[in-house]
Amino acid sequence: MINPKKPKIWYGGDYNPDQWEKPIWDEDIRMFKLAGIDVATLNVFAWAKNQPDEDTYDFGWLDEMMDKLHANGIGVCLATSTAAHPAWMARKYPDVLQVDFHGRKRKFGGRHNSCPNSPTYRKYASRMAEKLAERYKDHPALLIWHINNEYGGAGNCYCDNCEAAFREWARARYGTLDELNRAWNTGFWGHTFHDWEDIVLPSGLSEEWAGANGRTETNFQGISLDYIRFHSDSLLDCYKLEYEAVKKHTPDIPVTTNLMGAFKKLDYHKWAKHMDVVSWDNYPRFDTPHSYTGMMHDLMRGLKDGQPFMLMEQTPSQQNWQPYNSLKRPGVMRLWSYQAVARGADTILFFQLRRSIGACEKYHGAVIEHAGHEHTRVFRECARLGEELGKLGDTLLDARVRAKAAILFDWENWWAVEMSSGPTIALRYVDEAHKFYDALYRLGIAADVVSVEADLSGYDLVIAPVMYMVKQGVADKLEKYVQAGGALITTFFSGIVGESDLVQTGGYPGELRKLLGIWAEEIDALLPSQRNRIVVPDGAPGLRAEYECGMLCDLIHSEGAEVKAVYGDDFYRGMPALTVNKFGAGEAWYLATSPETSFLQDWLSQLCASRGIRPLVRTAPEGVETTLRSKDGQDYLFVLNHNEDAVSVELGDRSGVDLLTGRPIDGGKAELAGRDVWIVKLHS
Ligand code: GLA
Ligand code: ZN
Repeated sequence: MINPKKPKIWYGGDYNPDQWEKPIWDEDIRMFKLAGIDVATLNVFAWAKNQPDEDTYDFGWLDEMMDKLHANGIGVCLATSTAAHPAWMARKYPDVLQVDFHGRKRKFGGRHNSCPNSPTYRKYASRMAEKLAERYKDHPALLIWHINNEYGGAGNCYCDNCEAAFREWARARYGTLDELNRAWNTGFWGHTFHDWEDIVLPSGLSEEWAGANGRTETNFQGISLDYIRFHSDSLLDCYKLEYEAVKKHTPDIPVTTNLMGAFKKLDYHKWAKHMDVVSWDNYPRFDTPHSYTGMMHDLMRGLKDGQPFMLMEQTPSQQNWQPYNSLKRPGVMRLWSYQAVARGADTILFFQLRRSIGACEKYHGAVIEHAGHEHTRVFRECARLGEELGKLGDTLLDARVRAKAAILFDWENWWAVEMSSGPTIALRYVDEAHKFYDALYRLGIAADVVSVEADLSGYDLVIAPVMYMVKQGVADKLEKYVQAGGALITTFFSGIVGESDLVQTGGYPGELRKLLGIWAEEIDALLPSQRNRIVVPDGAPGLRAEYECGMLCDLIHSEGAEVKAVYGDDFYRGMPALTVNKFGAGEAWYLATSPETSFLQDWLSQLCASRGIRPLVRTAPEGVETTLRSKDGQDYLFVLNHNEDAVSVELGDRSGVDLLTGRPIDGGKAELAGRDVWIVKLHS
């Protein structure tokens, strides 16, 4: 449980009374109670208010608000306010200001605007965290710490302090210049470094430039990769300073910071090790596939071994920062809230509780809209959900999601794949992972999304899409997993480099070659308009005779693997496109190209069936999502209907009672209304 002081699914969100005049506060509280809101996230952007100058701290408003919330049964997720530095600090100590990619020193403005290696920022941010902890350590409303906000949310810093820190970081990683020169392959283009001071940050002034497709291109992948690692670590160090500052005074209060799903710049697997609870902000676009949101929840859950996470932010209705900010249709906010719960969330929190009247978020949805009263559609929907969550009590808290399949996801691999300078700019790591996830989702098969460090022994199927970078120990680990009976899938453009993006010579897929029983000789990149074909021999159950494929085609030779399908066109027609290698008690599959989606569905459906991995329910039409959470031997089956209209669902050999309505649901056909949800407490 996140904090046993509040043993239910927390309900509420970001609340900024510091941006309002006091007379409105009591009205807010009245409406929170009407909506069943019992947690407020305070103090996210109040640094300038709390510390009007270098020596003055004034927490009057916060004292009053903490007391008021507590008196009304509302707990506090207390932020440390360090995600936007005060203007006086920027004026007095310019080292807090960032230098951008093009070498321009920024002025005061925006948020997430501090240089992570600024001594001033680090000193005052951790001092603020400590002052808050000292002040509120015994406050009964305090439930959890919310450090900073969405770390990495704005640009990176390229200032002199960061450059000096990067040299130190590189020295700690490589020890000697010889080792660094080897790792960065600096013999190329005459880059050999003879002095640590020779090293500069890779930016628009040195090695990098903005490329097509949102990519940052670089002359030196080794250097650029290390800069991203360094930048992620620099922000993590800032987080850790605040973490330690609050823990000094409140060792038992859990600590989190709000993450952002597949956010590229920060290696969340590394971050999560320093968080007590993972929390994240879920803002799907109007056209985001439900399976993508599902994958993000699963990725966040996977950061801490499946431990329940917090949904820290979502909008009750619309956003303001997308090109087209559609309203969530009636029922959608509730449905997506339960999607989070279905995938392991133990809180439902919004951004924000009251809609602001000025600056860029005034058209962002809130529980209390500009109308200012409770007679709105959005408020009614929020209040209905609040009531339901109240009734659910602690039933689902700490329940674990169960999956037999896993998708490996790795940030460093992601960075490396997308700065690779060839063979194609079309390759998007997250999209490739999502293709697999989506195929399983449509089949009704749950997948965890986990790091390469995760324990794989409980999975019957492990998918490692585009495992371009094979980190130390990973090949060995995968061999052991398959040896012991597991099934592994990996794809084109795998086994190419190690952690410094240096190619492993002797033939792709390098260290994975033995396990996969294949050798990849060349890699063809197809134009966006070009396709090849995957041709399946007669008699392969459940598969069509051919499918389209494209983007990349590895030209592979079998070295013992069984060829399951071949290319249909071009000079490599007849060469293997899909292979499987028996290895120990298990099997290792290689898919040499990027297929059309129906191929993945047909193939994975067969493969899962052969591994005994079954869908959670017998029949669920398109747009129906299913998950299972279990606790103390009791299973809860979530069935979510993303369609506007009612559908008929058949649980099959399962039955139980819907927690939300008390309605019994048996194995036969039952109707689930449009955008409605069942949480079926299953009979054992
Ligand atoms: C982010 C931030 C919030 C707010 C919302 C708006 O998630 O953390 O402060 O800006 O976006 O969608
Ligand atoms: Zn800097």
